[in-house]
Amino acid sequence: MTIRSRPAPEALEFFAGGGLAGLGLSGFDVTFANDIDAMKAAAWRANHLGRLHEGDVWDLTAADVPGRPTLAWASSPCQDVSLAGARAGLGARRSGAFWGFWRLMQALDAEGRAPPIVVIENVVGLLTSGGGEDFATVCRAMAEAGYRVGALEMDAALWLPQSRPRLFIVAMRGVTGATAVGPVDPFHCARIRAAQSQLDEATRAAWAWWSLAAPARRNVHLADLLDADDAVGWFSAEQTRDLVALASPLHRQRLEAAAASGERRVAAAYRRVRVEAGRKVQRLELRFDGLAGCLRTPAGGSSRQYVIVAENGRVWARRLTAREAARLMGLSEDYRLPASESAGLKLMGDAVAVPVVRALSEGLLLPASLGERVAA
Ligand SMILES: C[S@@+](CC[C@H](N)C(=O)[O-])C[C@H]1O[C@@H](n2cnc3c(N)ncnc32)[C@H](O)[C@@H]1O
Repeated sequence: MTIRSRPAPEALEFFAGGGLAGLGLSGFDVTFANDIDAMKAAAWRANHLGRLHEGDVWDLTAADVPGRPTLAWASSPCQDVSLAGARAGLGARRSGAFWGFWRLMQALDAEGRAPPIVVIENVVGLLTSGGGEDFATVCRAMAEAGYRVGALEMDAALWLPQSRPRLFIVAMRGVTGATAVGPVDPFHCARIRAAQSQLDEATRAAWAWWSLAAPARRNVHLADLLDADDAVGWFSAEQTRDLVALASPLHRQRLEAAAASGERRVAAAYRRVRVEAGRKVQRLELRFDGLAGCLRTPAGGSSRQYVIVAENGRVWARRLTAREAARLMGLSEDYRLPASESAGLKLMGDAVAVPVVRALSEGLLLPASLGERVAA
C-alpha cells in the first residue's frame, strides 16, 4: 500500500523582509517571496531555502509567480499610515506599494490563480489613516474581488514580552475559516469595531468576524530573553547618569524605588521628545512591566531601545542588542542576523512577530486552506 501525504499548501510572501511571516506560516510552503531592499533580501536568503525575487513589487508580473498559491501574505510598508508618521495615507509612495501587490493579485486572478486567502499586515494606524478611508479602500477592493474580509488586531505581547499591536486583514474566497457572529475580544477591539462600522454597506455585507482563540497566559518576561550581563557592553557610570537624568520626575521615582527594592528589576526604555510647558524636551521613558516597548526601525540613536537594570541601590544601562530584538520577535538562536548591529535592529524593527503569525496560521488560515472548520 502506498501512503501519500497531502502536499503543503503554497504561500507567497510579499514585502518579505527577513522572512518572519514565512517562518510563522506553519503548514504552508513558501514558494515565492519578494522584497525591494538588498539588506532584507540577503537576510531572507540567509534563513530560507526558497526563491526570493529582489525588486519592486510593481515590476512583478503573473509569470514571475509559480504554481497555484493558496495564500498571499503582504506586510506592506507602514511608514505612511503609521500613527507616528506623517499619515499621508495609502496613496503615498511607500504604502502605495500595497497597490503594486494588489495589481499582481488581479493578474493572477485573470489566469485563474488568485490565492483563496490573502493576509495584509500593517500598523494599527491603517484603521484611521485618511479618516478611515485607507482601511475602507483595502477592504472594498477585496470585497469587490469576491472575498469575505475581516480584520484582527493582535498584540505580540500576548505571546512575547514585547508590546507590538498590529493589524491583520484576512480575506478568503472559495474557502472559509471559522467566524463568530459578532466581534470577540481580544482581537476585535474597539478600534476594529469602529473601523468596521464605517465601511460602506456592500463591504460590510462581505465582512467576517474571523474567530481565533486567545493564547494561554504568557509567562516569559523581558528579563528572561536578555543576554548574560557579562556578555554585553554596559554604559559607563557617567553615560548612565546622563541617560537617567533625562527621566521625568515620575519615571525617576520609579527607578529609585526599583533600585531600593532589594530585588533585581529590569526596565526597557526609549528616549522620546515630549512637549512640556510649551518646550520640546528629550525624556527617558522606562517601563517595569516585564515588556519591551515596540521595536522600531532605528532612524538615529534616539530610536534605539535601552535596557536599564536596578539592583541594590545601583543602576546600570545599555542598549538592547539585535540578538535580543530577534528573541523579542520570537526567533530562535539559529536565525542568521546581518553582521551589522544596526542592520539587525532595522530588520527586526520592521518585522512581524513569528508566534503571532503562527497563531493566525494554525488557528485560522491552515484549517481554512485544508477545508476544515475550527469551532467558533
Ligand atoms: C514592514 S516591512 C515587512 C517585514 C517583514 N514582514 C518581516 O517580517 O521582516 C516592509 C518591507 O517592504 C519592502 N518594500 C517596500 N517597498 C517595496 C516595493 N515597492 N516592492 C517590494 N518591497 C518593498 C521593504 O524593503 C520592507 O522589507
